[in-house]
Amino acid sequence: MKFDYISDIHLDFHCTEYRTTHKNFYKDIEAFAKRLLPPKPSPTLLIAGDTGHRFEQDSYLLTVLLRTYSNILLVHGNHEFYLITDSIRAKYKNNSFLRLAEMKDFCDSTPGLHFLDGNTVTIDSITYGGCGMSWDKTHYELLCESEVSTSEVVSFYKRYLNDYRNISCGTAPYKIPTGYGASVFCGDFDPIRFFESQYNKLKSIEKADVVLTHYAPLLHPSMPEQYKHHLGTSFYYFNGKEIIDTLAPKVWVFGHTHSPAHDIVDNTTYLCNPYGYPRENPGARIITYTKD
Ligand SMILES: [Fe+2]
Repeated sequence: MKFDYISDIHLDFHCTEYRTTHKNFYKDIEAFAKRLLPPKPSPTLLIAGDTGHRFEQDSYLLTVLLRTYSNILLVHGNHEFYLITDSIRAKYKNNSFLRLAEMKDFCDSTPGLHFLDGNTVTIDSITYGGCGMSWDKTHYELLCESEVSTSEVVSFYKRYLNDYRNISCGTAPYKIPTGYGASVFCGDFDPIRFFESQYNKLKSIEKADVVLTHYAPLLHPSMPEQYKHHLGTSFYYFNGKEIIDTLAPKVWVFGHTHSPAHDIVDNTTYLCNPYGYPRENPGARIITYTKD
């Protein structure tokens, strides 16, 4: 088994010309792709979500990487749902799922690109299955050592991450003043329903040697100590025990956290290779996993 993997490229933080007509748009992305590549790339690349915020950039990066890779498998991260400017909101009619559909259509019509959304692809006798996934309240309840209401966890989620104000299902979020100069965002994204739909997609996979998700299916051993006891870490994980037990994958590749990981738990290897934001992981690039 041999493949390359990376996650959390956040392309628009590294290539900052966004207009396709700008003289540097294409060459910036080509130079960036060159910096990502390992010395001896494998034929297959896995990208575990959060590639960027803009279809024009993300699709061109994939096009450039296809000059090196025969197959690229990818899942969405939370940032693939972000609508970060007024013009992007207008383009997708305030619907993050239309933004995702554009990328899925692009992958479906481009040979070598495979968008995993509850499906599998078999390449050289290795079956890859995946889905972007999302978080559940397992870690929150573990830290609180008790059952916690969904509304408490969702309330913290809305305040803790940018997701809620950037992800929409057709209606732009709006602010409500709460007194003393503070305000809260009101939107139409339901993270609990979204998790359930994602979980059902992943659970529908019957066989996979390698699983690809954006969110991690367990609290992996190499998680940095400072995150282990933080409630915000809840939004990086879900309880994947049932799926791990059923599929018993050899490898699970994930992202979302910007801390690299390489752990073996029971018979599964858990890998995370985040590129991250500028200056976050100096020297990061695509890496190769090999196992006989
Ligand atoms: Fe993420």
